[in-house]
Amino acid sequence: MNIQAPYSLLNLIVVVNFLLVLRAGQLLSLNTKNNDSDFLDCLIHNSDDPGSISRVIYSPNNSSYTSVLQSSINNLRFTSPTTPKPRFILTPVHESQIQTLVYCSKKHGLEIRTRSGGHDFEGLSYVSQLPFVILDLKNLKFVTVDIQTATAWVQAGATLGELYYGIAQKTQNLGFPGGVWYALGLGGHVSGGGYGAMMRKYGLAADNVIDAQFINVHGKILDRSSMGEDLFWAVRGGGGSSFGIILSWKIKLVPVPETVTVFAVDRTLEQNLTKIIYKWQYVAPNIDKDLDIRVLMFSVVNPSTGNRTIRATFDTLFLGGVDRLLALMQEEFPELGLTREDCTEMSWIEAVVIGSSFTNGEPLEILLNRTAMPKNSFKGKSDFATNPISEDGFEGIWRFYNDQIEAGMALLVFTPYGGTMDEIPESAIPFPHRRGSLYMIEYLVAWDGNETSPHISWIRRLYNYMSSYVSTSPRTAYLNYNDLDLGVGKTYAEANDTWGSSYFKNNFNRLVKVKTMVDPGNFFKHEQSIPPRF
Ligand SMILES: Cc1cc2nc3c(=O)[nH]c(=O)nc-3n(C[C@H](O)[C@H](O)[C@H](O)COP(=O)(O)OP(=O)(O)OC[C@H]3O[C@@H](n4cnc5c(N)ncnc54)[C@H](O)[C@@H]3O)c2cc1C
Ligand SMILES: *[C@@H]1O[C@H](CO)[C@@H](O)[C@H](O)[C@H]1NC(C)=O
Ligand SMILES: *[C@@H]1O[C@H](CO)[C@@H](O)[C@H](O)[C@H]1NC(C)=O
Ligand SMILES: *[C@@H]1O[C@H](CO)[C@@H](O)[C@H](O)[C@H]1NC(C)=O
Ligand SMILES: *[C@@H]1O[C@H](CO)[C@@H](O)[C@H](O)[C@H]1NC(C)=O
Ligand SMILES: *[C@@H]1O[C@H](CO)[C@@H](O)[C@H](O)[C@H]1NC(C)=O
Ligand SMILES: *[C@@H]1O[C@H](CO)[C@@H](O)[C@H](O)[C@H]1NC(C)=O
Ligand SMILES: *[C@@H]1O[C@H](CO)[C@@H](O)[C@H](O)[C@H]1NC(C)=O
Ligand SMILES: *[C@@H]1O[C@H](CO)[C@@H](O)[C@H](O)[C@H]1NC(C)=O
Repeated sequence: MNIQAPYSLLNLIVVVNFLLVLRAGQLLSLNTKNNDSDFLDCLIHNSDDPGSISRVIYSPNNSSYTSVLQSSINNLRFTSPTTPKPRFILTPVHESQIQTLVYCSKKHGLEIRTRSGGHDFEGLSYVSQLPFVILDLKNLKFVTVDIQTATAWVQAGATLGELYYGIAQKTQNLGFPGGVWYALGLGGHVSGGGYGAMMRKYGLAADNVIDAQFINVHGKILDRSSMGEDLFWAVRGGGGSSFGIILSWKIKLVPVPETVTVFAVDRTLEQNLTKIIYKWQYVAPNIDKDLDIRVLMFSVVNPSTGNRTIRATFDTLFLGGVDRLLALMQEEFPELGLTREDCTEMSWIEAVVIGSSFTNGEPLEILLNRTAMPKNSFKGKSDFATNPISEDGFEGIWRFYNDQIEAGMALLVFTPYGGTMDEIPESAIPFPHRRGSLYMIEYLVAWDGNETSPHISWIRRLYNYMSSYVSTSPRTAYLNYNDLDLGVGKTYAEANDTWGSSYFKNNFNRLVKVKTMVDPGNFFKHEQSIPPRF
């Protein structure tokens, strides 16, 4: 007895353990299998048209899963084998399929990541550390333009190119002040603010939204009047993905002249770039609202010396003809030395094509091709300049760009503010960067392949160097250039001390109130989503 007891006890333990292991293993595999097929069953049983929903749901078992997943990943940094992959991808063709998805994802504990154009800087629309499903809106892309009222309804899965093209099919006299890059999705771009070459005249894309269709955490479809002004305020610049799913926007179109003028003039350090750009800081934010002069800076090899230099492109849209432009530039910015030969008159829609780095004369249909441009891996950051940078300050920036190997393909972009941006109150929508911002700074480093660290540490050092030249307490940033280096704090206090204030300044508190009201259980969440607070 005395000998046997421990022995059999041991035996028992071993057997029980074995059983437990077996059970757990079985349960685990049964569970994954079961809950994956349970989830599919849930979708099918709660769908008006089960046949149709099963044609738009992909699991890793489907042969096209990988191509659907990658089709709108725009940052190849998030295509490595170690990047977490979704359990499912849904590409709905009808709104009711999204309502079904919300219901079943909650029931089965899957997170939803909503993807429109897939340009998120940190991949948040298609990567999560928790079990998740991608809601990819690429099939919901109707654009309905009404020139009588100068408005349009546009579905969230449409691209800016599809919107701009749709407007131009109907009229040459209207446009929309959205982003420069044609392939951005309306869902993410507009809900994060959205600026382009007409920002100084007409504000942001989000400033020009007048209604929206939205699905909340209960799967209900709301419009502006049924969602109420607080939620309608929040989704115009506060980021849609903290609150629910944007189905479509009703936007106000803006007048554009039949003839606009564009130029892209290059200057290098040998051509007094430092002095010109120093002056640009005083000119570009204060000049006529019809004129938007962005500066894009790169490091290049000067072919005549063989040495590296900085080349800046002064990339410009002017809402008017060349004569008025030349007079304005001669008066306010003679240092650039602009000539008539540098300028081309064209229609607004042709300027849109050029703005997306296509060459002049491409057919407008290029705007409908979402994959016309090559992709790479990148890391981006942003700042707002509240005071001009000194010439010495610029010399310091150039030194970073001469560090050619680590900089990879590095780009620095200055986008002038002022004009209408100064006139809109900071609290009009969640996007708070208005009066007092001279220009926005975008830092970008891109590379081929997946050796990320030298490039990312380079851009962090540059960002650190810039701290004495830009906004402080808080150091502000643009939500659409989201940057997880700003923090991934989950609690109210952590978020408020870091990214919450950077993206939203004093508007953060109102966003938290809206979140607490519409999604207290925090179903719609990601690394930098607005936290609820009680
Ligand atoms: C090459 C490039 C050029 C850019 N140029 C500009 C520019 O000129 N101007 C500018 O302002 N910005 C620009 N951006 C930034 C761009 O505005 C943001 O990346 C924007 O979020 C992209 O929207 P998306 O729908 O394409 O991205 P997605 O990755 O699909 O979405 C971005 C975020 O929005 C959420 N989201 C997307 N759709 C919905 C929806 N329907 N409902 C709720 N939440 C949703 C996602 O979950 C994610 O959090 C550029 C980015 C890149 C990569
Ligand atoms: C399925 O089961 C696994 C293991 O128990 C769990 O981690 C997961 O969250 C469950 N749900 C889904 C939808 O996969
Ligand atoms: C994928 O295929 C495996 C093997 O055939 C199966 O066990 C699993 O249930 C399938 N998953 C889904 C989501 O259909
Ligand atoms: C993916 O596979 C499942 C199971 O075989 C099937 O029901 C579904 O229709 C497939 N999805 C697509 C988009 O073909
Ligand atoms: C990096 O790229 C190489 C070459 O394409 C590939 O073999 C490797 O698996 C990649 N590594 C990661 C972590 O993605
Ligand atoms: C640069 O500036 C100097 C002095 O301000 C001037 O003499 C010179 O011509 C300028 N160079 C160019 C290329 O404009
Ligand atoms: C090129 O750079 C080298 C090293 O910095 C310098 O000595 C040389 O004068 C430069 N050449 C020209 C033409 O600027
Ligand atoms: C879109 O552009 C890519 C790259 O130029 C090209 O390969 C593809 O054929 C184009 N697609 C369409 C539909 O024109
Ligand atoms: C939130 O952050 C702002 C700006 O950093 C700060 O002024 C404010 O006191 C903070 N609020 C709370 C409640 O912590």
